[in-house]
Amino acid sequence: MFKKELKILAENGMERRIEDRSCLNLPLSRMIRLDKTDYINFSSNDYLGLSGRTELINAAKDCMDSCGFGSGASRLLSGGTEIHAELEKRIARYKGTESAVIFNSGYAANISALPALASEGDLIISDELNHASIIDGCRMSRAETAIYKHCYVDEIEKLLSRKTRGKKIVVTDSIFSMDGDIAPIHTINELCIHYGAMLYIDDAHATGVIGAGKGSLHHFGIKPSDHIIQMGTLSKALGAVGAFIAADADTIKFLTNSSRGLIFSTALPACAAAASIAAFNIIENEPCLIEALWENREIIYAGINKLGLNTFGSQSPIIPVETGDINSTMFHSKSLMHMGIYAPAIRPPSVKTPRIRITATASHIKEDIVKLLNALETITKS
Ligand SMILES: Cc1ncc(COP(=O)(O)O)c(C=O)c1O
Repeated sequence: MFKKELKILAENGMERRIEDRSCLNLPLSRMIRLDKTDYINFSSNDYLGLSGRTELINAAKDCMDSCGFGSGASRLLSGGTEIHAELEKRIARYKGTESAVIFNSGYAANISALPALASEGDLIISDELNHASIIDGCRMSRAETAIYKHCYVDEIEKLLSRKTRGKKIVVTDSIFSMDGDIAPIHTINELCIHYGAMLYIDDAHATGVIGAGKGSLHHFGIKPSDHIIQMGTLSKALGAVGAFIAADADTIKFLTNSSRGLIFSTALPACAAAASIAAFNIIENEPCLIEALWENREIIYAGINKLGLNTFGSQSPIIPVETGDINSTMFHSKSLMHMGIYAPAIRPPSVKTPRIRITATASHIKEDIVKLLNALETITKS
């Protein structure tokens, strides 16, 4: 089956393969072992190196001792525990909202919440570079979806000024996962207030990274408000798994009653929630981690720019590097691997322009960064 389709993918250099790493106690945010070889990992979203911290591991282990592993049912049946509830309270406090609800993944949160928030007759206004889970969530909602040019606020305003039967919702990533730039949330929020629209922000890469870790609203000095819905993941800088939506109490109550991915899916294991609580403790007690992340990001970003390479307007620890067409991008990625660096190629359809996507983390040591920059210089000059 699918031989023809697979042949086309291979011929166009578009075939994707799962490369599973060895689990050998390596700090994932810094090193990766693939096929018995160790590489410096510049492809992890474990921005603060929390996934390997003993606090998370012990919290999960302790919780498993009392709660078991699987949760056994949907949250709305018997799958939830007091640990799930504690995590939701913690998230709401952290994000400054009245309430929060957790989902099994960021993907599940977006494809569940967006169809709950918008339906036929409503208008979703969505950035062209939003994450695939947002695109899918918009499609599943059956609302009209208008796509605007990346971060182009004039177009958002034009769409907001349209007459519609139902609600209007502007949806945007805060930090874009493949370009690493930051959406002009402040201006978008002003427009939403002016036109009476809702604002749905995907803080997957902003949580634990900007706004002292609290995400994009804090970064832009915007107070949470009833028209703003903040989605975030627990799987990236938090080093755990799952996601959340934080908003006013009625919105969360409504989402609990209408998000299909919450109602019709087995709850996140309690041990995962316990690990996330431990992660929030670390982020709040160790601001030096976010400082280290940004220090590393600045060194990598400056070094790549010095080489004259295009970084697509990156403003975050996600630093994409333009590397030409698909073949040239594959060559870059393979050459980096030969030099001990893991930074996979990102190709269409994930992005329009092929690139190497480099992510800085707090765990990288200065020697890792020097190795990366030297390798990029060697490849660029070859
Ligand atoms: C912007 C954005 N939203 C949502 C997700 C999905 O999150 P998760 O990996 O927890 O499913 C991702 C993950 O890649 C993402 O980058």
